[in-house]
Amino acid sequence: MLSTDRSLPNTGHRYVPQITSLDIPPSPNQELLPLTAKVNSSDNLEIGGCELRKLVEQYGSPLYILDEFTLRTACSQYRDSFTTYYSGESQVIYASKAWSCLAVCRIIDSENLGFDVVSGGELYTTLEAGVDKDKIYFHGNNKSVTELEFAVEVGCTIMVDNWLELKNLVQIASAKSEQPVPIMIRLTPGIECHTHEYIRTGHLDSKFGFDPNQLDEVFTYLSQQESLSCIGLHAHIGSQIFERQPHQDLASVLVDWMKKAQGYGLPVTTLNVGGGLGIKYIESDDPPSISEWVSAVSKAVENACNQAAVPLPKLIAEPGRSLIGSACVTAYTVGSRKEIPEFNTYIAVDGGMSDNPRPITYQSVYRAVVANRMSAPITEEVTLAGKHCESGDVVIKNAALPKTEPGDILAVMDTGAYNYSMASNYNRIGRPAAIVVYEGEANLIIERETYHDLIEQDRLPERLVKHQE
Ligand code: LLP
Repeated sequence: MLSTDRSLPNTGHRYVPQITSLDIPPSPNQELLPLTAKVNSSDNLEIGGCELRKLVEQYGSPLYILDEFTLRTACSQYRDSFTTYYSGESQVIYASKAWSCLAVCRIIDSENLGFDVVSGGELYTTLEAGVDKDKIYFHGNNKSVTELEFAVEVGCTIMVDNWLELKNLVQIASAKSEQPVPIMIRLTPGIECHTHEYIRTGHLDSKFGFDPNQLDEVFTYLSQQESLSCIGLHAHIGSQIFERQPHQDLASVLVDWMKKAQGYGLPVTTLNVGGGLGIKYIESDDPPSISEWVSAVSKAVENACNQAAVPLPKLIAEPGRSLIGSACVTAYTVGSRKEIPEFNTYIAVDGGMSDNPRPITYQSVYRAVVANRMSAPITEEVTLAGKHCESGDVVIKNAALPKTEPGDILAVMDTGAYNYSMASNYNRIGRPAAIVVYEGEANLIIERETYHDLIEQDRLPERLVKHQE
């Protein structure tokens, strides 16, 4: 078992608790650095037994560095907590929108989790990674007919979001499937929670899911469809949530709806409570641990079932961020420095909004450490800027750092969720490579995009070629 001293001298803040052994690992979502982080004798940050400076030398910069141990720990904590706290059957499925690629899917599949996919592309990726159709749940608020046909052919469970989709699915299922197609219905629970406006989904004015006022109509319709089998209900209230109460409220709302659906003769015996557990991005963030969250949700479902006098459902949760967010850091190389006396100092790195669009999109805040001089004392507050042609392209607004030099390696923490998956090629900058590190070994999982990759999908119509000649 890994053993590591995780106190980080140059942070100035206590970024991580001073633990000396990972025999009982902490909850990854409550940590700033991946669980295997340590400072080696040459004052360099190591993750997964690999020194960041050497990784950057070998694989280039910027670089997503995924710590397999942290990811696996989060998976097992979710899985084992449900076994401990929930008396009925349970399943944890990974919201693959957080980071979908073959290696991530493979690791999570090997931990026995299922998958939430939201597009034909995510479905394709999980299938190519070897995931069994029975572990895949297909979400999305505007699935195309082609995507629905793909899902029916694959045989995964389809999370139906709206009337158009429901009616399209009845036609596709009748034409293409001999067995009733397993579906679950997504409902808007009308539960408010405190998170960024763009990542709230549970309030009534949301584009996701059926309006609960239409429950009777939906259940009546479903009870008349032989080509579909409605096995469950789903709701998701939002993302990066620290409160437990909204999740508990959701559990009891879902149980009430399940009872109602059963009254229509529907075989609804599965409830999916969505994801949403937050992670620690900065010292003051204080999310519940994975096991505390699972315990709160499980108890709420069990209590609601007791009150409603219904048997316990199969319980599904679909976390994304809290599974993978804390398992990754992005390594950047420091470049230019601009000092504006009495105003600000800008330190530019070799990436930015194209590899992490979260600061510019949600004003998300991150922390960074100087990975090649971990004990250097913090001496300045700077704006860590990206390299894109956009003033808002800032990685960290008030970064407390030691004085850096061009060539220093900065590790921005907690970039596992919604970074690679939301990355773009803005300014025709190729997306970084990603590697997975584990017990001293590093392996490439996503190639760095080359200039050639950037123009690969471009086409020059003959007319334009002629025009130039
Ligand atoms: N289930 C559904 C139906 C969802 O829509 C989501 C996230 C999840 C599960 C997983 O939620 P999580 O456990 O990761 O909080 N791009 C934004 C986050 C968007 C979340 C979208 N849905 C960000 O970077 O903060």
